[in-house]
Amino acid sequence: MRVAEQVAVVTGATSGLGEAIAKRMAEEGAKVAVVGRNQKRGEGVVAHIRQKGGVAEFFQADVTVEAEVEAMIEAVSRQFGKLDIVVNNAGVVIPGSVATVKKEEWDEVFAVNVTSTYLVSHYSLPHLIKQKSGSIINISSEAGLKGLANRAAYCAAKAAVVGMTKAMTVDHAADGVRVNCICPGTIETPMIKEMLAKHPQPEELMEQFFSRRVTPQLGTAEEIAEACVYFALPDNKYVTGAVLSIDGGALAK
Ligand SMILES: NC(=O)c1ccc[n+]([C@@H]2O[C@H](COP(=O)([O-])OP(=O)(O)OC[C@H]3O[C@@H](n4cnc5c(N)ncnc54)[C@H](OP(=O)(O)O)[C@@H]3O)[C@@H](O)[C@H]2O)c1
Repeated sequence: MRVAEQVAVVTGATSGLGEAIAKRMAEEGAKVAVVGRNQKRGEGVVAHIRQKGGVAEFFQADVTVEAEVEAMIEAVSRQFGKLDIVVNNAGVVIPGSVATVKKEEWDEVFAVNVTSTYLVSHYSLPHLIKQKSGSIINISSEAGLKGLANRAAYCAAKAAVVGMTKAMTVDHAADGVRVNCICPGTIETPMIKEMLAKHPQPEELMEQFFSRRVTPQLGTAEEIAEACVYFALPDNKYVTGAVLSIDGGALAK
């Protein structure tokens, strides 16, 4: 058990990558706060973790709402007695170019991907600073490092997450807090299934997903979860400020 006795907060843990990260952290011994808005899915993830002998609790919060984030972090720290690992994973993608994307859509993409990362980190940091240790892991995207067609708000928001990671790395190194970032390529989660379902030519979109990479397959949520565990390992004291692409070689191409 590589993160035994650690307490991990995982946002967007009711689905996709966050669900896999929460389950993996629990398998590795962490007590996991499963955070999201959907209680039914959240309780389902918690039930799965407990059935396997892990420790988890669902905390319902909209991570774009400051009061809800503040209350959630306080509740997690009360429930588990401390906080060690924060995974800022909640995210949303809305297609569009700068010419077509509506202001409300732009704001929503920034609220869910960027403001949530700021808010959850902002309210977690006092706990991490107090104990002089902690690991924050921000989930950006391949889209945060390159331009993807028809994803202007998402590319800008995920690039902001990379920038925030670097700023936090510098600001909080002396506090014993490490901050790292993962940039996944396409992973088949409900987010991707919804994009395909809404696309007028889903086969063409799927072809785009594959053609961006050098691997013959897309990634799995478990590969992202494993990278999160690596970044969380307390012994990895030199590992901070990293931006890790897990994208089937898309950035290299
Ligand atoms: N899948 C990919 O190919 C891919 C690639 C690169 C990066 N990413 C990034 O990876 C992360 C996870 O994506 P995914 O594919 O797993 O997506 P997903 O299956 O759609 O899951 C998104 C999660 O975010 C949560 N969420 C959304 N808005 C929220 C809000 N306002 N408050 C609290 N939670 C909220 C959802 O929970 P509730 O519905 O319960 O609120 C859900 O658990 C995102 O940041 C995404 O941008 C994904």
